[in-house]
Amino acid sequence: GKSYLQNEVRPFIELIDSLRLLGIDKDLNLPSIAVVGDQSSGKSSVLEALSGVALPRGSGIVTRCPLEIKLRKKKGKWEGKISYAGHSETFYDPSQVDKLVREAQNALAGDGVGICHDLITLDISSPDVCDLTLIDLPGITRVPVKGQPDDIGDQIRSLILKYITKKETINLVVVPCNVDIATTEALRMAQEVDPHGSRTLAILTKPDLIDKGAEEDVLKIVQGKVIPLSKGYIIVRCRGQKDINDMISLTEAMQVERDFFKSHTYFSSLLNEDKATTECLGRKLTGELVDHIKKSLPRLTDQVQSLLSQQLNLCGAPHFLSSCPLCIQIIIEFSDRINELGRTGDAKHKNIYGLLR
Ligand code: GDP
Ligand code: NA
Ligand code: MG
Repeated sequence: GKSYLQNEVRPFIELIDSLRLLGIDKDLNLPSIAVVGDQSSGKSSVLEALSGVALPRGSGIVTRCPLEIKLRKKKGKWEGKISYAGHSETFYDPSQVDKLVREAQNALAGDGVGICHDLITLDISSPDVCDLTLIDLPGITRVPVKGQPDDIGDQIRSLILKYITKKETINLVVVPCNVDIATTEALRMAQEVDPHGSRTLAILTKPDLIDKGAEEDVLKIVQGKVIPLSKGYIIVRCRGQKDINDMISLTEAMQVERDFFKSHTYFSSLLNEDKATTECLGRKLTGELVDHIKKSLPRLTDQVQSLLSQQLNLCGAPHFLSSCPLCIQIIIEFSDRINELGRTGDAKHKNIYGLLR
């Protein structure tokens, strides 16, 4: 996996890490990222490209339960934990994810083609991920296949709504390039729960499968000239079935994606406009995360202030400096840092949490 978090985000993420160690981040509610789209539109593929974690994906209904992937940046080796319905298992090999998620889905939703509202949680800590929570969801279907109840469409829609309605969730509307976006139900659902489009991003997938002659129409869509969306569009190319069969890794796939857009007659200009590649999508989402944290800074300051006064009481001011100098020092430094981040968007003391080690 590759981290998209570059310098501008690092201070914020380190701040969150530090606050976590003090137990202050509980109310912060970092935004989650959910996907909404038709079955096989490429939702799981987009999430696996973002997270660097290979997820169950393919044709037909593959994602049958909501899957919450909590990525946490942490020193040390890759560690995964899957939890569902009272069951929990820790593992250390990323290639196990696919199998374990499929087993979890079978346990919750049965072996067949049914779905289940119960959540599977996948906690992943690694030095290579960014602090994000991603939610993979079953795709929208209309016609039940053999073995599915008649109301499967409604069941899936109500499951998706449960997640995309939440204010703290950024919704990725996933639409393949070779489908008429104007008629996609995913977009309609997203607009219903977020009429101003303040937390909706449209992702166009499978640009390698566009019919000859339809490229210019897709270009107009990406440029927002057909259906304008306030946060706009990003076009991505993920691994297709052939890439999987050829064992193209996620890292190689990113290079293939870049080369694809660079050499594309119609889409190469989109690279400079920040409207193409999963890497660009990662950057955009990171920006959203930072905006959210910035908005939360005043509340964090309040929490730090109240912790500070608690500590002062505990230590019995005015002798506190001799009783608990390190605590007080750390809290004051945090308070300064939060204020500075709020003011300038950057932190001078980038490594203050070294104090806690
Ligand atoms: P989901 O049902 O929406 O989660 O879709 P999946 O992520 O499972 O993808 C459905 C199929 O489309 C899989 O076989 C993917 O390999 C394939 N796919 C996804 N993105 C692309 C893409 O950009 N290009 C090509 N050619 N295939 C893709
Ligand atoms: Na699928
Ligand atoms: Mg899926």
